[in-house]
Amino acid sequence: MGPPGAGKGTQAPRLSDHLKAPHVSTGDMLRAEVAAASDLGLKARTFMDAGDLVPDHVMIGMIVSRLQADDASEGIILDGFPRTVAQAVALDEALYDAGGSIDLAISIDVDREVLVNRLAGRATCKGCKTPYHLTYSPPATAGECDKCGGELEQREDDQPEAVKNRLQVFDKQTAPVLDYYRGRKKLITVDGAGSPDGVFESLVSATSP
Ligand code: AP5
Ligand code: MG
Repeated sequence: MGPPGAGKGTQAPRLSDHLKAPHVSTGDMLRAEVAAASDLGLKARTFMDAGDLVPDHVMIGMIVSRLQADDASEGIILDGFPRTVAQAVALDEALYDAGGSIDLAISIDVDREVLVNRLAGRATCKGCKTPYHLTYSPPATAGECDKCGGELEQREDDQPEAVKNRLQVFDKQTAPVLDYYRGRKKLITVDGAGSPDGVFESLVSATSP
């Protein structure tokens, strides 16, 4: 968990490799629906471009069905879900029904000014979705993904107005989810201000038993 630009999409794939559990990003799932111009994608796009949240019932349905896939049986790394208390409650209920529970909620904490700079310079691979930063972590060849050679693109919701709204939406709707997990003794907070490697080291040591 963390505000836009905190590094969820940078760290979750690393944690996924480390823990051998699939990375499930609701933002990536929604962007795939938008790219496919599906009914869900067409409906979600208006919310996403403005930086608003897609309605809870859509997101809960999406995650509940993802949890039923074979590769989720040993656990998953969620990125970008839950981001309302209603989503957190629905997730707990779905896991309880399946005989499981959340292990840990990880909050990546970064100053606002840094977040805005990160989002302004972000470029993402169209193919494998690896995030780059044009100044802090550029690809070896301009405009080309190091991992798959895919083309890099900037996200529609990284425009300044949408970023401003996404930060406000985080404060209003997602910060209470941090309190939800804190109250259940499931929350750890990691400083997301260092280098991507440094943040990953903190994540691994904070999540190791
Ligand atoms: P989503 O895709 O989840 O976007 P977000 O939460 O706004 O977060 P970002 O993906 O922008 O940031 P990130 O934390 O992943 O940062 P990243 O690693 O890329 O959601 C998009 C939209 O979908 C929402 O607005 C909403 O409309 C909808 N949605 C999704 N889930 C939903 C849900 N559950 N309910 C309702 N609606 C939902 O890093 C950012 C940049 O910083 C990159 O350039 C990266 O290279 C750079 N960077 C990262 N770490 C570092 C570092 N340590 N040092 C220097 N640079 C760094
Ligand atoms: Mg992301």
